[in-house]
Amino acid sequence: MLELMTDKTQDESRQGEAYLPLTPTIHPPKKSFYIESYGCAMNFADTEVIASILQSEGYGATNNCESADLILVNTCSIREKAEQTVRNRLTHFRQVKQKNPGLLVGVLGCMAERLKASLLEEEKLVDLVVGPDAYRSLPNLIEEASGGQKAVNVLLSREETYADISPIRLNSNGINAFVSIMRGCNNMCSFCVVPFTRGRERSRDAQSIVTECEALFRDGYREVTLLGQNVDSYYWTDPQTNKTVTFAELLERVALISPLLRVRFSTSHPKDITDDVLFTMKKYENLCKYIHLPAQSGSTRVLQLMNRTYSREWYLAKVDRIREILPDCGLSTDMIAGFCTETEEDHQESLSLMRYCGYDLAYLYFYSERPGTLAARRFEDDVPLEVKKRRLQELVDVYRESSLISMRKDVGKTFKVLIEGTSKKSEDQYFGRNDQNKVIVFPKGNCKPGDYVMVTVHDCTSGTLIGKVVS
Ligand code: SAM
Ligand code: SF4
Ligand code: F3S
Repeated sequence: MLELMTDKTQDESRQGEAYLPLTPTIHPPKKSFYIESYGCAMNFADTEVIASILQSEGYGATNNCESADLILVNTCSIREKAEQTVRNRLTHFRQVKQKNPGLLVGVLGCMAERLKASLLEEEKLVDLVVGPDAYRSLPNLIEEASGGQKAVNVLLSREETYADISPIRLNSNGINAFVSIMRGCNNMCSFCVVPFTRGRERSRDAQSIVTECEALFRDGYREVTLLGQNVDSYYWTDPQTNKTVTFAELLERVALISPLLRVRFSTSHPKDITDDVLFTMKKYENLCKYIHLPAQSGSTRVLQLMNRTYSREWYLAKVDRIREILPDCGLSTDMIAGFCTETEEDHQESLSLMRYCGYDLAYLYFYSERPGTLAARRFEDDVPLEVKKRRLQELVDVYRESSLISMRKDVGKTFKVLIEGTSKKSEDQYFGRNDQNKVIVFPKGNCKPGDYVMVTVHDCTSGTLIGKVVS
């Protein structure tokens, strides 16, 4: 996520940062690739699939773009600014290519379909363009591009899930891993480009998901995050037995791998999250009590224009239900300020919804019109930029208040924390997260990353709990 956002885990997590990986390879690689990823966790998970495909072709990863044979940028189209960041990087890589004419530069991911013509032909920025469902064709495309041809494959698929490919964990801390459980999205929220860039929703073979999580656990990983644009609509039918697996059932199967494996998931859609999912979360201690439930707006009128298919009241009732079944559940949201026709009243409703929900974490954006989306075709982007920015700032202010309240409530409490690594701010401290996804820092003592420890919180900032190991 590259725009203004308030992500309190940002300091300590790998979200939203360019990826500079170093992959250990078994055989000395014949050639090297350098890859950067932008956008959401799904893109980061895809990068690990791409690394696996390239490794089987004899490529090893490097973190030095100057010496690489192949530079890849896994791109995001979600907002205009995200695309601009990628364009700036591509311009930089073109300069690198001028010094090293044999180098190939490729664009992957969500910008591929939309911008293939301009990137390849008009601006001559890249040698290959590969869409999110075409990564298996990368080896052939690299060969074509090496022969001087324009190499493009942006075909979207109704079946591709890369279920059989074991991702190579790039830049990993060896403790947390992303696992894709589905691809694409069928929801057609009017502001959103994802259904166009990633195509129709499809769920991945449940057994392949469980097998991947088991392998991660055997390799020492202690937390998996199951990823999809709308995980609650996960639905897979076993072709052999004709039995179906819902998201709640999948969660249970992954939870049963080991009580020492924490399981998280993202993203839930308010219209789809079921009581079944909530009760399954309640049943298993290792299913983390944290739900990312994007509201997008607090106004029913705007939600309708956004095609979110729920009202303010529906959303609030879902939040009440979550609190009833899982009283200690952490909750986060995405909100968009200044969507088409949004009035001050609508905006006030977003602020009051945020106050009511008391989010622990919020990703906040102002509306950025995306060509080809329903909103771009149907509505005027009529809220002036300065109004969007002011409203965004007001959302940020309310979020800061509520997250500070939520953090202060935790002072004096003791949490089970999975240690993820050394805190960026102090060599003497570890950081980890509790069940509710809050970051906690504490003196290192005798523990190590991957351990579970009980930490009592004695202080906090608006983004971090500060504590001491008690056992
Ligand atoms: N599938 C998830 C959902 O339904 O909430 C996440 C979708 S998207 C990858 C992440 C967030 O980007 C969205 O929840 C939305 O808040 C934001 N977003 C999407 N399109 C946007 C746009 N055109 N302008 C501003 N923010 C946008
Ligand atoms: Fe975009 Fe809506 Fe799908 Fe999320 S659910 S990816 S916001 S269309
Ligand atoms: Fe961006 Fe594509 Fe994710 S548009 S947010 S990388 S699905």
